[in-house]
Amino acid sequence: PIRPVILCGGSGTRLWPLSRRLEPKQFQTLGGERSLFQDTLARFRDEEFGRATVLVNALQEPRVQFELQQIDHPAGRPLVLVEPAMRSTAPAIAAAARVMVAEDPDAVLLVVPSDHRIGRSDRLQDAYRAALPFVQQGGIALFGIRPTAPETGFGYIEAEADGAGAVLKVLSFVEKPHFDLASRLVADGRHTWNSGIFMFRADTILAELAGHAPEVLAAVDASIAEASRSDNSLRLSQTFTASPEISIDHAVMEHSSRLGVLPVSPEWNDLGSFEALWETGQRNAEENVLKGDVLLRDVRRSYISGSRRLISVIGLSNIVVVDTDDVLLVASRAQSQDVKFVAQHLAKLG
Ligand code: GDD
Ligand code: MG
Repeated sequence: PIRPVILCGGSGTRLWPLSRRLEPKQFQTLGGERSLFQDTLARFRDEEFGRATVLVNALQEPRVQFELQQIDHPAGRPLVLVEPAMRSTAPAIAAAARVMVAEDPDAVLLVVPSDHRIGRSDRLQDAYRAALPFVQQGGIALFGIRPTAPETGFGYIEAEADGAGAVLKVLSFVEKPHFDLASRLVADGRHTWNSGIFMFRADTILAELAGHAPEVLAAVDASIAEASRSDNSLRLSQTFTASPEISIDHAVMEHSSRLGVLPVSPEWNDLGSFEALWETGQRNAEENVLKGDVLLRDVRRSYISGSRRLISVIGLSNIVVVDTDDVLLVASRAQSQDVKFVAQHLAKLG
């Protein structure tokens, strides 16, 4: 079976103050009934998927355990791999691969983020099936989304011309290009966005990490040797933090010659901003997306989310209002991406 590996140790600063260090985006319900993390797990209930592994940092582990208790697990309760601190995705994925290859030398991992909304998960599942032979032979499969704007927050995959449903050879991978480059990549028609989903054999990614990021692997291996185990969790030792902080995209994908891509249209949304929440949310007749107790007059095309008190807005449109227990955010919708600067500033203050 394919082994799902769920990444859920990020901090999601672009949705501050909805998303906080202890309550990042993946644990928010964002309109649904379950959290994005629980929705992610629910996509792997079919028989072709084995027991999942969840990668999380120590700060967020209690939240993950709590959310795991609320749902059932047909393939067994997931293994929770606990990082002592955030070092981005390369060391986390390295740890999962090392643990899994020890259990099964032929293990195939499907690494997925937990902070997306996916409308047509069946289409992704078809793509995983199509990618499997390529992956079993040592390839790294990427899943490419047709780009709609020069987004600077994504990876861009350049592929050879289309070959109807087959894995396409990847010519280059650029992680988070600057705006000018992103504009050119979107315009040339050969690039897709990296969905952040990866499929590979555990031994394939370990070989790539050994070649392109040996310092990551060294720290991770030491931290596994010193790890403490309990029923459903494995706590990596503090040595893990000796790894450089680097994403799998920068550590491996930008350098690997084993990449293949399957173009997919799974109605994917990265929910990376209030703009995206507004676009994908339930809009009323005035095109507002509203949560909580809200009283409006002459307000249009806005995202307004409250928690415990009434929010009233009069005569303002295209705005974002997010009220939480300790923070109130008011922003223009067009500039709502800038909340990440506030979140970064606060993180520096501690
Ligand atoms: N366990 C763990 N530890 N998880 C992490 C860590 C970490 O240190 N850092 C991030 N994550 C999780 C996040 O919670 C998220 O689910 C996933 O890993 C991806 O991390 P992001 O920080 O959200 O990455 P990104 O959105 O900037 O970029 C990635 O995703 C894009 C698509 O949304 C890249 O893969 C891009 O190339 C891609 O286009
Ligand atoms: Mg993300």
